[in-house]
Amino acid sequence: MRVLGIYGSPRKGGNTDAMLDAFLRGAADCGATPERLYVRDVQIQPCIGCGHCDKAGSCVQQDAMVEVYFRLERADGIVVASPIYFYSVTAQLKALIDRSQAPLMKKKLAQAAGAYHPRQPPRKGFLLSAAATRGKRLFDCAVLPVRYFFDALDVHYAGELCFPGIEERRAIEKHPAALQDCRRAGRAFVSHTAP
Ligand SMILES: Cc1cc2nc3c(=O)[nH]c(=O)nc-3n(C[C@H](O)[C@H](O)[C@H](O)COP(=O)(O)O)c2cc1C
Repeated sequence: MRVLGIYGSPRKGGNTDAMLDAFLRGAADCGATPERLYVRDVQIQPCIGCGHCDKAGSCVQQDAMVEVYFRLERADGIVVASPIYFYSVTAQLKALIDRSQAPLMKKKLAQAAGAYHPRQPPRKGFLLSAAATRGKRLFDCAVLPVRYFFDALDVHYAGELCFPGIEERRAIEKHPAALQDCRRAGRAFVSHTAP
């Protein structure tokens, strides 16, 4: 099983990097093959809303996203990690998510043509997040776009682990249980998924 981890933070070696590392370690404990995509290392242009994908089911922009589409397609499971930035996911991750309008439209076009065959069983997805503050609905702003991103790719939203009160680069390491929880979630993600 190939589990694609999408590292959404521009901060190398930060909290969500460590969380996703732990999650993927857990997935590997259970036999999965982890793959890593660092959005800070690829140039993904934002969606320009040109409407090309409405008709063609593909994106007119030829950039790093071409390979990302391929990697998203071949993954058996997807894990997204992002810190909260101004009550949203990071801009780098949001660009990737917005560009998933193309596969969404491809799916809709296939559905309209009666040629759509969803994967069985559906793939699973998971969200990891951290943020400095502690508001009650702090992580809604990550859960909603990531849920919809997974929907576009026919990935079942399997859950999230989100830690408030985490600000400095390695603060997550001082949390009593966070990285263990992430590793455990990675194991569960794989062992509860049909091969
Ligand atoms: C530009 C920017 C915006 C941020 N906005 C928020 C915010 O809206 N709410 C919050 O609780 N924390 C906010 N933070 C704090 C980060 O979410 C927090 O430091 C997180 O642990 C960073 O994760 P990372 O180390 O994986 O990058 C912001 C940080 C930056 C740099």
